[in-house]
Amino acid sequence: MSKYAIISSSFRGNSNSYKICKALEEALSLNNEVKLINLVKVEMNFCLGCGYCEHNKGVCIRKDSLYLALDSIRDYDYVIFASPMYYGEICGQLKTCFDRMNSVIQNNSIKKMALICSCAGPLEEKSIIKESFNIFVDNFKSCKNQGVYIYPSAFMPNSFANDKNQEGFINKIVSDFKEE
Ligand SMILES: Cc1cc2nc3c(=O)[nH]c(=O)nc-3n(C[C@H](O)[C@H](O)[C@H](O)COP(=O)(O)O)c2cc1C
Repeated sequence: MSKYAIISSSFRGNSNSYKICKALEEALSLNNEVKLINLVKVEMNFCLGCGYCEHNKGVCIRKDSLYLALDSIRDYDYVIFASPMYYGEICGQLKTCFDRMNSVIQNNSIKKMALICSCAGPLEEKSIIKESFNIFVDNFKSCKNQGVYIYPSAFMPNSFANDKNQEGFINKIVSDFKEE
């Protein structure tokens, strides 16, 4: 049994990326411990860039509920993030979460991370989001980048909920994580 954390960052009602997280939670929970964190419900402050965490074993000076949420995933095996695509990138909520994860870099046992991104456009290269996610994961020295999973053509809310192929999208992520 492995420990998975899934972090959803869309603030939209009937969000596609959140629905993907819920389906993933259900699929993974059959054989694993899974924690789903929905940033809509988390009090978040920006990273101050103060460096306090770098000199204090990963303890963040900002004692908000984002700190508690991130502190709880240090010993998880796998972390999967989900975001809507905003102007070719992740949304601001997830960027704030990534910035604040500077405190997790200091002290963690995460083996793999992946990013799911829901977007209105087609499934094409999306090189900016892939490159910036790689830069983020590179900071976690013993952690592999499992990749960026683009969910395309999802302009409207609830697109994923009404998608007949949703099982295929979820199964691909689940099987990729099983491979060492
Ligand atoms: C501010 C904003 C910027 C967006 N930028 C893009 C974009 O660059 N490329 C794209 O394909 N879709 C873009 N979209 C559409 C969303 O990515 C799309 O609707 C996505 O499915 C939303 O995910 P969610 O339902 O999980 O919130 C944008 C939407 C908003 C509100």
